[in-house]
Amino acid sequence: MQRTTLITGGAGFIGCHVAKALLDRGHRVRVLDSLIEQVHGGRGKPDRLDSRVEFIEGDVRDPVCVRQALVQVDHVVHLAAEVGVGQSMYAVDRYVSVNDLGTAVLFQELIDQPVKRVVVASSMSIYGEGLYRDTDGAVHEAVMRGPRTDAGWDPVSEVGGKLVPVPTPESKRPALASVYAITKYVQECLTLTLAPAYGMEGVALRLWNAYGPGQALSNPYTGVLAIFASRLQNGERPMVFEDGEQRRDFVHVEDVARAFVLALEHSKAAGQVYNVASGQDRSVNEVAVALARAMGRPELTPEITGKTRSGDIRHNIADIGKIQRELGFSVNRDFENDLVELAQWVALQQAEDRVQQASRELEMRGLVA
Ligand code: UD1
Repeated sequence: MQRTTLITGGAGFIGCHVAKALLDRGHRVRVLDSLIEQVHGGRGKPDRLDSRVEFIEGDVRDPVCVRQALVQVDHVVHLAAEVGVGQSMYAVDRYVSVNDLGTAVLFQELIDQPVKRVVVASSMSIYGEGLYRDTDGAVHEAVMRGPRTDAGWDPVSEVGGKLVPVPTPESKRPALASVYAITKYVQECLTLTLAPAYGMEGVALRLWNAYGPGQALSNPYTGVLAIFASRLQNGERPMVFEDGEQRRDFVHVEDVARAFVLALEHSKAAGQVYNVASGQDRSVNEVAVALARAMGRPELTPEITGKTRSGDIRHNIADIGKIQRELGFSVNRDFENDLVELAQWVALQQAEDRVQQASRELEMRGLVA
């Protein structure tokens, strides 16, 4: 029997790729998406959303829409969310409403129309700072950044010693450093608590920084690679916060989509949380330089602002051992090639660079300093 999967927020960057991956696996796919202006720019349903998808325009906070969207559904992938870490620090009510009330309404309706499994997109943001090791090899789990000192941007141990980031496993305790992180953790908790209470299976995927064709280029609160791509395409240098040496793990959106398929289909995934990343970390400066090269603008070197964005963490790199071992997830990509693919896609897009405006919004509120 053909399974039907509902993807909330399925018209977004990750959603379009998950929809395609599920359709290719033989699922029937329905998407519920409110096509928010900040992401979709008022252009309506994106062309890249597979034409085989059954599309419903509506808000995940609207019980009537959700009820209709859940009719005869076997699985749910819950992606509908506001995603900007910086913006979440001032648009507090909007982030809590969309992300947490949205998840609450979804589960309220799932009580009446349960499904087999719900997979929610959580985030590495819930860890706050990743795991660190000191010079004696001791692991530090509860690292927090204090106010910036002359010693630099990196967090230091309680005794002021040097710390280096090491891969962060799922067992690290959450440390919620932004409103966005708080809302993602609540989404995760609602899913893992309510699904089993009503005979469903819940899974949470903690995503690192997804990139690839289809990112919302004109959304100044989107991920750093899309922001840089939009700047470069408009002949502007990428604007780097801090000193640009902060490290992340950039994971291609097709790998993210494969992780969702595994999380939905693998029997072992029920009730679990998994990190989803590439397993390779890079600094923000490295990706800015590599992208400028891939886009044929190597002269547009990173502009180091020396400022910190409130809510940002310094380093977080991923341990992907659990999803590899339990679900057979693997990543086999060439980052440089992926950037060339991204550059080719960007070259065909209209990217409005709204980054200056977004920076002003944050600066006005004292959230970049
Ligand atoms: C990002 C996602 C978040 C996702 C998480 C998973 C966005 C907006 N945030 O958070 O939804 O859950 O990954 O890992 O997509 N930076 C610059 N210049 C810029 C923009 C950002 O230097 O113009 C820096 C930031 O200060 C930060 C790093 O780049 O140090 C990454 O920022 P960002 O792409 O916003 O991602 P995360 O905060 O890691």
